[in-house]
Amino acid sequence: MCGIVGAAARQDVTSALLEGLKRLEYRGYDSAGIAVLNDHGLQRLRCNGKVAELVQETESTGLSGQVGIAHTRWATHGAPSDRNAHPHVAGMDGRIAVVHNGIIENHAALRKQQQDRGIAHDSDTDSEILACQIAGHLSAQNGLLDAVRAAVDEVEGSFAFGVIDREDPERIIGARRGSPLVVGHGDSGYYLASDPLALAEVSSQYCLLQNGDIVMISEGEAVVWNGSETVVREWREFQGTEVQSGLGDYEHHMQKEIFEQPDAVAQTLEGRIETGRVDDGILGPDAGTVLDATRAVQIAACGTSYHAALVARHWLERHAGIHCQVEIASEFRYRQHAQDPGTLFIAISQSGETADTLAALEMANQDPNYHATLAICNVAHSSMVQESDLTLLTHAGPEIGVASTKAFVTQLTALMLVVILLGRRRTLAPEAESDLVAQLANLPTRIGRVLELDAGIAALSKQFANRHHALFLGRGSHYPIAMEGALKLKEISYIHAEAYAAGELKHGPLALVDEDMPVVAVAPNNRLLEKLKSNLEEVRARGGRLYVFADRRSGFQSDDLMTVFELDAPENAVAPILFTVPLQLLAYHCAKIKETDIDQPRNLAKSVTVE
Ligand code: F6R
Repeated sequence: MCGIVGAAARQDVTSALLEGLKRLEYRGYDSAGIAVLNDHGLQRLRCNGKVAELVQETESTGLSGQVGIAHTRWATHGAPSDRNAHPHVAGMDGRIAVVHNGIIENHAALRKQQQDRGIAHDSDTDSEILACQIAGHLSAQNGLLDAVRAAVDEVEGSFAFGVIDREDPERIIGARRGSPLVVGHGDSGYYLASDPLALAEVSSQYCLLQNGDIVMISEGEAVVWNGSETVVREWREFQGTEVQSGLGDYEHHMQKEIFEQPDAVAQTLEGRIETGRVDDGILGPDAGTVLDATRAVQIAACGTSYHAALVARHWLERHAGIHCQVEIASEFRYRQHAQDPGTLFIAISQSGETADTLAALEMANQDPNYHATLAICNVAHSSMVQESDLTLLTHAGPEIGVASTKAFVTQLTALMLVVILLGRRRTLAPEAESDLVAQLANLPTRIGRVLELDAGIAALSKQFANRHHALFLGRGSHYPIAMEGALKLKEISYIHAEAYAAGELKHGPLALVDEDMPVVAVAPNNRLLEKLKSNLEEVRARGGRLYVFADRRSGFQSDDLMTVFELDAPENAVAPILFTVPLQLLAYHCAKIKETDIDQPRNLAKSVTVE
């Protein structure tokens, strides 16, 4: 993953670089570094830890320069440490410095070749190998641009990188293949970054580089090449959503994002539903023919987005009468498929950059049995949006907290729109469509009411936070919600949590139940309620402690062994969205009590651009 920033400006660029890094910490945060060109040549600072530590160090050393690059890392090759932190230097007396995002797959072979040429390496990273490969092509005839051109032909794998050269102190060269890279333009100069978000403070416009692009930026211009030709990439104006990333009155981004969910869902729906109907054009002008011809749906996604896909499978089969398969993208991409013709492939992703989901999408694009691909995604300029035939943006706004919250509920909202579009062509009657649309339209208000449970869930979390394990139970379309609740709890509070379809409990996991194993259940008032109640009795009979999030019509009563939290979730179809919210709050409050790093949990990163 990793985030990179570069700046060439008429003034000192260190604060722009560090601000950019802070905004990119969602991509990784185990070490950070910066390198600038100034009257002393090339100066570099690196530290094992977060960007805040690098900021302190930069301030205390008074580092400055008008051209520089910076990096925040998520370790792949080499443990988090000072020596593995970027920028990596290479060449005579550390002539060049490189920041890199991606994976150089042939790093071992290149390392060996470099060692045979007498090069000693300072780190365990594949990125240093890239730096040495570039430096190896510098000569009296070959400047930095030529050296980069030669090196990118030799490296295999994915990359976005920026490189500066002490002997060419006004320029940065960048290149991308697979990993994202954008160029920003502001009053003071030109910038590079992994995500426009990093440049929103200093740039008024940005453009997205394409695979194979090499860019040269200086204070006064940006030139892009693809192969030997110069190319012009479209400049876009920054929108409000790319700029806002502050915390406001909230303590954590995750908390802010949980509370933004009513607005986020309203934005997902805006302009897409009208007078009881979903607008047929929301997937683009050509989508009608694709939807008419769709015979089945295959969804691939990872993590939380995979849980959204699992809910959608229930919805597609129930409301649209269409066969749907769901698979974790990292499994899907390495499997032989026997797919029926006429299948619509859907990739779900907050970032639109998750390597496994992107690879699954690329596979589907090559397979004629998938007659079209659709990306449900939160980031308009992402690789998945660019690679898919059709797109439905979730419009959740930037999600900074590593644990996904508002992205999930907006994915579900967007998926329900797709269910309705497909259903209308098959089994969904107009009255049933207007009922589903009314449920969607009510969602922002209903989520707002569920959020009122916050204080109660904060109190409940006090009993929960000292546990080491928890089981989450659900049935039907709420089983994926139990999975999502367990994932949220484990990733931010580090409490081990597993989800089971409640009917599966007695086939093994019931053996785990005792007074030390809290069991969380999601209990909507639907046709599976009585079945769920029987499953919960099985837990109670073994002394298990139950925490039940139930619709207020479900008839649960709190007692010694059961704490009931009532929600108002009368509308069955969208109930999974409503039941998600208390589980997010439970995870959030447990993590807060445990004083974990809620927005940046250990070992994780927001955008998983490596497989
Ligand atoms: C969990 C979480 C991850 C992501 C997963 C996929 O809270 O955020 O499980 O859902 O890494 O990311 P996207 O949706 O960006 O493809």
